[in-house]
Amino acid sequence: MSPKRDITKARLHYRKLLNSSQSLIVQKQQRVQSKMQRYYEDKEIVQEYSRYRPLLSDQVRVAVMDYLKSKTKGCQGKYDMLLDVGCGGGQATQLFASDFKKVVGIDVSQNQIDDANRKNCYDHVKYQVGHAEKLDFENDSVDLIISVEAAHWFNVQEFLAEAFRVLKPGGCIAVIGYLPPTFIPQSYLGDKAKVAAKQLEIGYSFLKEVPKERMQSYLHVASRYQNVLDLMPVYDKCRLPDLELSFKWSKKHVLGFMRSMDMVVHLNEQRYNEVLQKNGEVTYDDVKKIDVAIDYFNIIAKEFSELQNPDATVNALFQVFTVAGSK
Ligand SMILES: C[S@@+](CC[C@H](N)C(=O)[O-])C[C@H]1O[C@@H](n2cnc3c(N)ncnc32)[C@H](O)[C@@H]1O
Repeated sequence: MSPKRDITKARLHYRKLLNSSQSLIVQKQQRVQSKMQRYYEDKEIVQEYSRYRPLLSDQVRVAVMDYLKSKTKGCQGKYDMLLDVGCGGGQATQLFASDFKKVVGIDVSQNQIDDANRKNCYDHVKYQVGHAEKLDFENDSVDLIISVEAAHWFNVQEFLAEAFRVLKPGGCIAVIGYLPPTFIPQSYLGDKAKVAAKQLEIGYSFLKEVPKERMQSYLHVASRYQNVLDLMPVYDKCRLPDLELSFKWSKKHVLGFMRSMDMVVHLNEQRYNEVLQKNGEVTYDDVKKIDVAIDYFNIIAKEFSELQNPDATVNALFQVFTVAGSK
């Protein structure tokens, strides 16, 4: 089977898993969700996040703004208001800021909001603590809502009900995410799709260690937010074309990115606790052995010998997906 068909098959498989497990684990997932919200209250994680996560490209902004323009033909100049939900350190908020007169980014984590405020370079952009499920804004007041790489932590039904309440008629929502990246060694000249399929397979082998209720948010990402699209309470909704982002990263950056993923943080914690229970103490060598990021990198370095050079760089390829709707 071709690598592309492998990926499609894997997606279908995870979609099925997602549907079948939904009702059984919803309660446990709610507990995980609130733990997740606390996760971003850890200052170190917020720093790792802002250092190693990719910035969206202007292409993503243009695609979303073109969608908004197509739904609001009358607008001249800047739109009134943008709301970014789950804004984190404000990476995407800033990208869209100059198209709007007023911009608000909200996030449940005070630490993320502090980080966003530190980096804010616009007077008309404000950040505040807030919940996706209870938007503190008037009915019919927002032109565009964006949410980037965050909706898998929300109660999506409640978030969408609120989003469509606060949107102006004709206003739009764009819920954006990205799949775990493929790391292609810079000197590699072979078939990229084959590398992507191989790394997906290696990635999935780690997921076996993850408890079911933790998987739910990952599965939403793997399904490219199909749940968000399905639950949008309007007929006027669609997927915008996927976009690819590419970054040249060192091994250090790859490891930093992986350690900023909550799934990796969780697996490392789990492995760490197991060693702790067995040995009573954990040495630096133990920590190196149990780090999922290092394990993963070493496995892919076995497949692609170019990566065994400590100065090797990779192209980190991200597939960005967007589900959008208009009120
Ligand atoms: C993976 S980060 C994405 C941050 C940012 N949008 C970006 O593009 O990098 C997910 C963010 O969603 C926030 N979050 C999780 N659940 C939330 C909720 N129910 N309401 C608002 N924010 C939430 C987290 O605190 C975290 O900052």
